[in-house]
Amino acid sequence: MNKDFNKKNLDFFPSGNGTNEELHHAIRETSRILCEWFSKSDELNPLPRESTFKFSAPEEKGIDFDNLLNDIHNLIYSSFNPSNPGSLAHLDPPPLNVSIIGDLIAGGLNNNLLANELSPSISLLEKELCEWFSFRLGFDHNSGGVAASGGTLNNLNALVSARYSLGLETNSNAAFVISKDAHVSFKKCARILGLKSENIITVDTDDLGRMDISKLENEVTKNLGNGKRIFAIVATLGTTIRGSIDPISEIKKICTRNNIWLHIDGSIGGIFSMVNERIKDIDNINKANSITINPQKVLGITKTSSLLIVKNIKYLQMAFQTGLPYLDSDENNINRGELGVQGSRPAEIIKLWLGIKSLGNIGIEEVLKVSINKKLSLENKLDKNKFNIYSGPLHIISFVPKNLSLEESNEWTHKAQKILINNNFMLSRPFYQNRYFLRAVFGNYNTQETHIIKLSELLNEI
Ligand SMILES: Cc1ncc(COP(=O)(O)O)c(C=O)c1O
Repeated sequence: MNKDFNKKNLDFFPSGNGTNEELHHAIRETSRILCEWFSKSDELNPLPRESTFKFSAPEEKGIDFDNLLNDIHNLIYSSFNPSNPGSLAHLDPPPLNVSIIGDLIAGGLNNNLLANELSPSISLLEKELCEWFSFRLGFDHNSGGVAASGGTLNNLNALVSARYSLGLETNSNAAFVISKDAHVSFKKCARILGLKSENIITVDTDDLGRMDISKLENEVTKNLGNGKRIFAIVATLGTTIRGSIDPISEIKKICTRNNIWLHIDGSIGGIFSMVNERIKDIDNINKANSITINPQKVLGITKTSSLLIVKNIKYLQMAFQTGLPYLDSDENNINRGELGVQGSRPAEIIKLWLGIKSLGNIGIEEVLKVSINKKLSLENKLDKNKFNIYSGPLHIISFVPKNLSLEESNEWTHKAQKILINNNFMLSRPFYQNRYFLRAVFGNYNTQETHIIKLSELLNEI
């Protein structure tokens, strides 16, 4: 045994033999740097002006924690800064305090959501919290869900279950339907599912960016007539560029008539169904067979936090249960690593649980409603004579000056982004309908009305 390593090993791992003072010290010092960074988040640009971070490889001999602090400091100060009030580019809001703590606890416990015996309390927590969400969404006692690391994976889990439920897992005519504005991750899902590109049926959207129902009817009839076996239609609840919501009830009718699974990609908008006051087009969610919701995208639950809620949990079991011969299993208590494609999983559910408990129903509603109100505030202030503005009922807005060619929109958005970043605002630059747009996403609780006024003044002048 190497003496240099061995004499220090009590410091490397938490242990029952000592006071764990080294770990206390490491957490205190890291928290200090992190909290200092948060305290400076208004003055630090959303994107670091220059990076002080340099990769340094591990050396032959390990180093003390205090010698890592410089690297930790440089890494933090060279990172994207979501807490700056002008960080409005993406679906990546500042983290909730308790959500950060949730990550720390999950790391400390290092339990594995693969199996009940590796995470007895947290497996129960995940099951119960998914059921809590299911009931809030209007599903009954057959429902349930599972967490996965992101919306892409949960959409994949849903599509695998949908195809399996209809016995089409090896059928080369198996196909699913999305709208033109659905998230690009469905292309990945199709590749993983081994579908030919013509087996993703893409339906046009209407003027408001929602799946066009008459076109959906036509596509379904045409493709079924051509021998395709459609196993799922995906309704997007909150499209990525403009936050539009597909007409869920109408889509459900087509699914019912044709025995097709309805999946809602609510990665962006699913969480808004928690708001008591009705939000336009968010209804009938419980008519779906499955829905993805991503609390990481607006509530401030640290990444990743995504749930797949299913009307009937047995379909997840059927699709993913393999048995885990190297683990003790209880027939009545399914191992939660057998409800989706991920095997070993971190205890991501802790931070979601702590986050929503700390906000409470009132807090959740407040964060969500405020995000929409801020979007409306910017929308009202933008010069309507100057801009084409695209925005659905949620907290996302995309816009570009009217009548620009593709090239002009490219130039304008680049120029605008530069001016904005020099003024501490970061907006994204999506490509949509053959032009570049600027997009603002109002999931940042630190953004105040004064910032929105300044942002609108800058935009109206560029
Ligand atoms: C509508 C929609 N669905 C799915 C996803 C994919 O989610 P994730 O990035 O968590 O995998 C996104 C990502 O932005 C999205 O906007």
